[in-house]
Amino acid sequence: MTFTNVARPVSSNPGVIASMPRPPADPRALGEDPARIRATIARAPLFAALSISAIEDITNRITVRKVPVGSAVVAQDEPGDAMFIIMTGRVKVVMFGESGREVTLSLLRAGDSFGEMSLFDQGPRSAHCLAVEPTTLLSLTRDELMRHIQAHPRTAINLVSEMARRLRRADETIAQLALCDVNERLIHRLVGLAREEGASSPDGLVVRRRPTQQELANMIGSCRETISRAFNQLARDGLIIPRGRSLVVTPALIERSEKKKAA
Ligand code: CMP
Repeated sequence: MTFTNVARPVSSNPGVIASMPRPPADPRALGEDPARIRATIARAPLFAALSISAIEDITNRITVRKVPVGSAVVAQDEPGDAMFIIMTGRVKVVMFGESGREVTLSLLRAGDSFGEMSLFDQGPRSAHCLAVEPTTLLSLTRDELMRHIQAHPRTAINLVSEMARRLRRADETIAQLALCDVNERLIHRLVGLAREEGASSPDGLVVRRRPTQQELANMIGSCRETISRAFNQLARDGLIIPRGRSLVVTPALIERSEKKKAA
């Protein structure tokens, strides 16, 4: 696996004293509208329910970065000194086995954040984070994050909530790998995708960009051939409707997934 355009995180500036006032970044210089930056920050779960002054404080500390498709924003095992919030685009969190086989841990969208783990445990990056679309990121160095948290501790509570949510999801995935067959895991992932990004239609929830069968296999720890069989069976049963590049997840499939959970 080779990465193109490896985009390194912005380095922190350890020489700056925590209490020193910092000149506000001028995001306009990077061609980004400050109002859009503020709106991204205000919408991000990480900064939910923050005061206007806290949002202003974050806005003044971030740097805008644009990354092309295929860039490794974060490379596993490297040291980390910045975290990121997605303004536009999508980022895939992945790990690779020795054979090159890929496991997708998460697919992140606008408003989602990543790269915070190594800022707190000082360990190396836990996974690769790859841009799967042209992506605009807001980048926040460890030093800037720590200064912000000292002044606005609510952000630390949000960070812990976000990590708890992620651990909950990881627990669910572990349980599924141990307890569910591929068919059940596929149904669960398709319904999850539909809930996360589906738009309502008379036939069900429409996922605009249908994941490839290989992508689905990487998400649920299977192989493309097995996914192909399970996916085609769901389509034959009318539980999903592939439509061009999109996919309709029907209410019948959603109901089936809920029944399975309740059982
Ligand atoms: P960090 O370890 O600094 O760099 C890789 C990032 O991937 C990590 O921080 C998290 O932000 C993100 N990450 C790791 N594991 C998961 C996961 N299971 N779900 C979502 N994001 C993750």
